[in-house]
Formats: sequence, C-alpha cells, structure tokens
Amino acid sequence: MQLPQKPTPRVFSGMQPTGNLHLGNYLGAMVRWVEMQNSHECIYCVVDMHAITLWQDPGELKQAIRSVTAAYIAAGLDPDKSILFNQSQVYEHAELAWILNCVARLGWLNRMTQFKEKAGKDRENASVGLYAYPVLMAADILAYRATHVPVGEDQKQHLELCRDIAQKFNNDFSAAIRAAGFEDGTFFPLPEPVIMGPATRVMSLRDGTKKMSKSEPSDMSRINLTDDADTIARKIGRAKTDPHPLPESEAELEGRPEADNLVGIYAALADTSKAAVLAKFGGGQFSTFKAALSELAVARLAPVNAEMNRLLADPAEIDRILATGARKAQAIAAPIVTRAKDIVGFLRS
Ligand code: AMP
Ligand code: TRP
Repeated sequence: MQLPQKPTPRVFSGMQPTGNLHLGNYLGAMVRWVEMQNSHECIYCVVDMHAITLWQDPGELKQAIRSVTAAYIAAGLDPDKSILFNQSQVYEHAELAWILNCVARLGWLNRMTQFKEKAGKDRENASVGLYAYPVLMAADILAYRATHVPVGEDQKQHLELCRDIAQKFNNDFSAAIRAAGFEDGTFFPLPEPVIMGPATRVMSLRDGTKKMSKSEPSDMSRINLTDDADTIARKIGRAKTDPHPLPESEAELEGRPEADNLVGIYAALADTSKAAVLAKFGGGQFSTFKAALSELAVARLAPVNAEMNRLLADPAEIDRILATGARKAQAIAAPIVTRAKDIVGFLRS
C-alpha cells in the first residue's frame, strides 16, 4: 500500500483501562475526545499493554478494558466515526516499540518524571516495562503517523520524548527514508500535543487545591461515573465551600479554590462560561447553587451511567466493537510499521 509523502492530519490518544472513572476524567478527557471526532480522523486506544507495567489482576484487567470502553461510548464516542480498540490486539504497537527502544537513549528515559513517581523509592524493583513505558507510547502514536495527540498536562514530557524519538529516527535513517521515496527525509511526523490544560482541571470536592483523583482515599472527594443520583447529590451537598456568598465576578473567585472549582464544574457541565454562571448565581448562597449543580450533574451524568451499565450487561458486544476497531486500526498501522521495518534494514517475508 502506498503511504502518503506527508502524513495526513490524524488524532491519536490513549486511555488507561481503569474502572473508576470520575468527573475529572469525564470533563477533562472524554468530552474533549468526543468533540474532536466531529472535525478530525480520530483513533482512540485502550492501553492495556501500558496497564501491565504495574501488576494487574488478570480478571480485573479484562473488566476494566470493557468498562473504560463502555464509558467512552456512553459519553458519546461513536465507534463508527472514531476507531476505538485495545492496544494488545494490534501487535504493530509492540513491534514498532522494539525498533524505537533501539532509537531512544537511556539518558532521555532517565529524565522521565512519571517513571520516578511510579517507581518510587524501590527503583531497582520496578519492571523494565515501566521504564520503557514512554517508548511504547511513542510507538502507539507513530504507528499511525498521527499528527495531533490530546493529552493531559502530565503527559507533556512523554510527548516531547515522542518527538525526539521521531526526529532521531528520521535523522538516523534519512538515506533509507529518502530511498523509500520520502523526498524530504521525513518518515515520522513530529506529533503536536493538544494539551487539555488547567481550564478543565477538576479539583477535589474536599480540597479545592488538589486534583480530583481516583487514587484519593476519600470517595467523597470525587464524583464517579457510576455514582447514582442520591450519591451525587450527597457529595455535592457536602462539598467543601467557604463562608461567603458566591461572588458576582470571575476575578473574585481568586483565592477561593472551592468556589472556583464548583463554578467551573457547573460551567463545564452546562457548556457555558464561569462568568455566565456567576451572572446567574452571584450574590446567592452556596446552598441554592449546590442544589442547582446537583440537578445539573445528575441530568448530565445519569444517562451516561445508564448507557454504560446497559453496554456492560453485554460484554460480548463490547468485545466485538473492540475487535472491529482493532481491524481498522491495524489496516492503518500495518503498512506504516512494515515500511519502518524496511527502512531499518529488515528483510521482508
Ligand atoms: P488518569 O485517570 O489520571 O489516568 O487520567 C485519564 C485522563 O483524564 C487524562 O487525560 C487526564 O488528563 C484526565 N484527568 C484525570 N483527572 C482529571 C481532573 N481532575 N481534571 C481534569 N482532567 C483529569
Ligand atoms: N500515558 C497516557 C496516560 O497515562 C496514556 C497513553 C498511552 C497515551 N499511549 C498514548 C496517550 C498515546 C496519548 C497517546 O494518560
């Protein structure tokens, strides 16, 4: 198959298979990805191979892959518009990762802050996979010659590494790349991060200075996608606030992290601005605002929750969707990875 000289615009992103998705994931990642599918060619991957860089219970991993797939579909991701699949079904990711392992330098990986955080104090005991994690992520992206990668701020360093790897591959093999017909010597594009930044940072309901997170011990700190209406209302009702009424202007949210967070959540759920939310609720008491926010959160999340449960009741159908997605993904990745193997000097079968 003929590959285009210049990679066509293509979005790629990956999500870890975790069953415990929360409002931060929903507003910060899922809603954004769903939006992008209307204007771009999008490939979204459940990164199960990344998941096992830390030990996972095999039965729970299978469930988590289905669960995150169901959540994204429930949030509006359309498997007929976007490609949706799990990483381990498309072996080109592993194949290209090996080649890129031989391009990336130890010194580059030694700088990765996420490895240091995840490996903790006992680094000698971390898996080799955890160390090589960012190279597999580069392979995910480059196997599709993807040009745009929507990620959270925390993934920026990995994206920069991906660009360095792509650049070094292009340099190291420039003659072979030109000989293969890529006249400007570029085989891999340098993908652009599309940072879903602080505007969509949803903070903990118990502490407005901390990110809402699945790893926070208190369940009251987050709204899970699986929470029912009563639980959502209870969590918002008990959310931390300050003793002042809501301000009239956005500038006055400064220094009031809890108020800022709740107003931000309302704005994101209602698809409007914080200023518009304050125009409506400014000067009023938190109790009134919280009641309206609960109603809105339930109205937005209940259908997602219901659809997710409906999908999860038929795991075989989810598996079929992922298998179809994997076939479509592979149709794109196979000719690219075959060409990369040819460029580095492997013989074809
Ligand atoms: P994680 O649950 O940390 O693996 O994150 C999965 C995705 O959700 C990433 O794209 C994150 O940037 C996004 N995300 C996680 N927590 C939040 C949050 N509190 N606010 C906004 N986005 C978030
Ligand atoms: N490392 C990313 C995260 O933890 C997930 C991921 C894996 C990814 N491969 C990717 C994101 C490729 C974007 C592109 O969120």
